[in-house]
Amino acid sequence: MPLNDLPHIARTATAGQLIVNGRPFLVRGAELQNSSFSSVQHMAGLWQKMVDMSVNTVLGSVSWEMVEPREGHFDFSVIDQVIRDARSYNLKLILLWFGTWKNGISTYVPRWVKMSPKRFPRVVVQTRDGRAEVTETISCVHGATVDADAAAFRSFVRHLNEVDGEQNTVVMVQVQNEVGVLGDSRDRSDAANEVYQSNVPSDLVRFLREDWHTLHPDLKSKLEDRHTLVEGYNWPQTFGQSIYTDEMFMAYHYARYVEKVAQAGQSEHSLPMFANFWLNYGEDSMAKAYPTLAGGGDLPGDYPAGGAVSSVLDIWMKFAPSLSFISPDTYLNDYHRVCSTYRHRKQPLFIPEQRRDEYGARRIWAAVGEYRAIGSCPFALDTLEVDDCAYTKHYALMASVEDLVMAAQRETNSIAGFFFDEPDHKEASSHPDPVFEMAGYELTVERAFTTGAQGAGYGLIIHRETNSDGTAKFLLVGAGFQVKFRSLATGTCFTGILDFEEKTRDQETGEFATHRRLNGDETRSGHQAIMPNEDPDDGGFPINICIPAVTKMAECIVYGLSAEG
Ligand code: DGJ
Repeated sequence: MPLNDLPHIARTATAGQLIVNGRPFLVRGAELQNSSFSSVQHMAGLWQKMVDMSVNTVLGSVSWEMVEPREGHFDFSVIDQVIRDARSYNLKLILLWFGTWKNGISTYVPRWVKMSPKRFPRVVVQTRDGRAEVTETISCVHGATVDADAAAFRSFVRHLNEVDGEQNTVVMVQVQNEVGVLGDSRDRSDAANEVYQSNVPSDLVRFLREDWHTLHPDLKSKLEDRHTLVEGYNWPQTFGQSIYTDEMFMAYHYARYVEKVAQAGQSEHSLPMFANFWLNYGEDSMAKAYPTLAGGGDLPGDYPAGGAVSSVLDIWMKFAPSLSFISPDTYLNDYHRVCSTYRHRKQPLFIPEQRRDEYGARRIWAAVGEYRAIGSCPFALDTLEVDDCAYTKHYALMASVEDLVMAAQRETNSIAGFFFDEPDHKEASSHPDPVFEMAGYELTVERAFTTGAQGAGYGLIIHRETNSDGTAKFLLVGAGFQVKFRSLATGTCFTGILDFEEKTRDQETGEFATHRRLNGDETRSGHQAIMPNEDPDDGGFPINICIPAVTKMAECIVYGLSAEG
């Protein structure tokens, strides 16, 4: 298939979009539990559920142990059927290569790898009581594993091209899963120690010195000064003896390992490839409320040391260039901070894993609208029922406007996205109420007015057109928010709402039709365009001026008056 028809990432003025069959594609994804794709029978009961949740892309694992049970002998029969079945439901797939590592550990390698520690050497860590302990994590620093993993991945991707190169059911591939050393800040095996005491590779030193001004602040904070970055010294001499030097050591070697595997796959079929990472707590005090379990952790080794957290993200971006982007698994951390961090160097944002509850679901609007995300996918939807799944309604609403969303994403300033947690939520985001400047107006977005307790909210605002008389039309999508407009035109003495119409949209033609004209109470007498909650709390106030959300779509036309008239 010609290269430009294959799924690929098209750079835009602001980020990048996934292009599938020649058209921008917004991933309404669902990552399944770890081993769901290992059984065609298990999946048979899930495909329709995904469709009913308005999911358009399913993320699932393909493991090294499953495809190469004996060295050099491959069995793709299960994944072939999974691809055929997904295709029959008109679903796309993002396949997760569980190769050498999964959540930092090597449990998905084939038994012939597990049983040959000399050929496929393991990480040795130092336990809290000072003992050297052999782990179930294969080393990225030395040994033959990278060649064996790359060969297996090459065979897998070659086969993918053979069975799916025309239909493009598979639109992206994740290479490994949350790599990094758990239990220590680096690999302390003899061979790894030798490398650690050897000169830091010149390409790393040069990169850090020459790209100093573009490095993420969290990396620069770990480096004394760019002028101390000189070639010809070992890791402790170059960066100082610290767990963060250990972390950089591991990040460099993991990145080069993953690059080699990704390159092997790319040589067979140039699908967009990425890697995903377990995040540290960072400065997220809220995250620290959780135990370090499948996420979080303060120090390298509490979280997988060497994984692409913010302090080593640049090293990954530089030394794993075959990856289209680096992705955060976002469960515990401040969502805005994570999205902003993983837009570093304007890379496209794709979140393969996030919370599957309403708290997570409402965040997709900020990811897609504010951070131009390709997608932000909940983990473990397969173990929810459709009606119990918060994403069902969010994905259905997103689907109804996603053509407009993606067109606006390609503009520099035509879309805004946001969410509001319940004011009393114990993990309520501390992000300030958003104020956007768009099309010559300032838009202040807040939780929707109610006479009782304010609720959560979420949504998008898209600038649709500006008329010659200076009036501007905005599309509002979502619930639980309100927008106050202020014209930025010089000399404006008043800004008001000309029209505010609740809309429905014909999904065939894309045409909007007016469901209701809103005014009076629904705009607080012209002050704000209110997109109410589905069940606003009236707090028992005897005058019921709050309406419930119906279509969660509206068009608002605003105008400004000049003092000169
Ligand atoms: C992150 C991993 O990438 C997933 O495979 C899964 O183990 C989740 N953690 C579980 O929280």
